[in-house]
Amino acid sequence: MRTQVAIIGAGPAGMFLAHLLHRDGIDAIVIERRDRAYVEGRVRAGVLEQVTVDLMHRLGLATRLEREGLVHGGTNLSLDGRMFHIDMKTLTGGATVTVYGQQEVMRDLFDAADDRDVPIIWNAADVALDDLASTRPRVTWREEGIGRRLDCDFVVGCDGYHGISRASIPADVLRTFERVYPFGWLGILADVPPVEDELIYANHERGFALASMRSATRSRYYVQCALDDAVDDWPDERFWDELCLRLGSDVGSRVTRGPSFEKAIAPLRSFVGEPMRWGRLFLAGDAAHIVPPTGAKGMNLAVSDVTMLGEALAQHYQAGNDAGIDGYSRRALARVWKAERFSWWFTSVTHRFPTMDGFDRRIQMAELEYIRGSEAAQRALAENYVGLPLGAAR
Ligand code: APR
Ligand code: PHB
Repeated sequence: MRTQVAIIGAGPAGMFLAHLLHRDGIDAIVIERRDRAYVEGRVRAGVLEQVTVDLMHRLGLATRLEREGLVHGGTNLSLDGRMFHIDMKTLTGGATVTVYGQQEVMRDLFDAADDRDVPIIWNAADVALDDLASTRPRVTWREEGIGRRLDCDFVVGCDGYHGISRASIPADVLRTFERVYPFGWLGILADVPPVEDELIYANHERGFALASMRSATRSRYYVQCALDDAVDDWPDERFWDELCLRLGSDVGSRVTRGPSFEKAIAPLRSFVGEPMRWGRLFLAGDAAHIVPPTGAKGMNLAVSDVTMLGEALAQHYQAGNDAGIDGYSRRALARVWKAERFSWWFTSVTHRFPTMDGFDRRIQMAELEYIRGSEAAQRALAENYVGLPLGAAR
């Protein structure tokens, strides 16, 4: 088989890129290790930046998003139970975010791929990349035990943090940068109305909590937990008690409790691999970088990467101009590092670190008090939260 662009992984990065290339008349095939139900079933964050919403519109993927997405012009912070509001829309001159679960985004991407005949190969085992430094790279895998081979012009590694693509970059070229946080997030979904119209990021003496949602009748809540906690340590009642405590008595007393139908613990990590291109291989999304979920930048960063890469590949195929692909890594990393900084900072000021002493705690409280009282500080938070511009191509 032959194609122009081989895309490894059918997560948000791979599927948005597949739709972008399809729109521009560039041949691409997505090769995914798992099946659709598995990829679509993974519960992830649910806040879309304007960049992501705009792309869904441009790709004709926004019908359900328009109907079901919850547009938020603000967000709330809470310090030891005292909540304050950040009016992001006013502070940024009109920008908003849209709450719409990643699972819904994936469903829209896959449904449209079926309708448009965007090819996806599911259940590809032992995917391997070869000759990436040549002009004729190739991807091999096994399908139901049978060996397959795809020749292409470019390979795009959209195979997430644990994929094989990043590892194809020679060790003396790849540089990695990492922070692992000494806590996790325990998240639940429950069919109860959300406690507030907008999200609440809560810093409490006992640890971080987040009140989020999927719809007017479905809530998504998180509490910071210990890294060695197990889901079984957290029966629903303990979860609700701890959540309400951390949100404070005012908000906590308004929380509607109910049985959770999803409960999982996720570790938190910051990670960047540089460069995001080697030979004919490009990396996009989690294959190149990870952010902690505070601020919900993960999927949005995957979208900004592939928006830039889509433009670059269109320039290559339509105009014979390689400036975009040559500049991709630098341009993408410039935005990635700003999102890394924001996610790291937002995590640092809202979580309880095991090594924190009284001084650290008071500095954290002072920082949140400063944000409460300063329009300039609120604006800095707001412009990062709604998403920074993509940045110039050159
Ligand atoms: N071969 C083929 N596919 C692979 C391989 C492989 N060797 N390894 C991993 N994959 C697939 C995974 O099964 C997954 O479906 O690649 C996909 C990667 O998807 P994500 O991990 O979601 O990564 P990405 O598309 O970059 O998404 C970025 O969305 O899922 C969130 O947490 C993620 O917020 C981040 C954002
Ligand atoms: C979510 O709704 O899952 C969510 C929202 C905001 C975050 C992280 C996760 O910062």
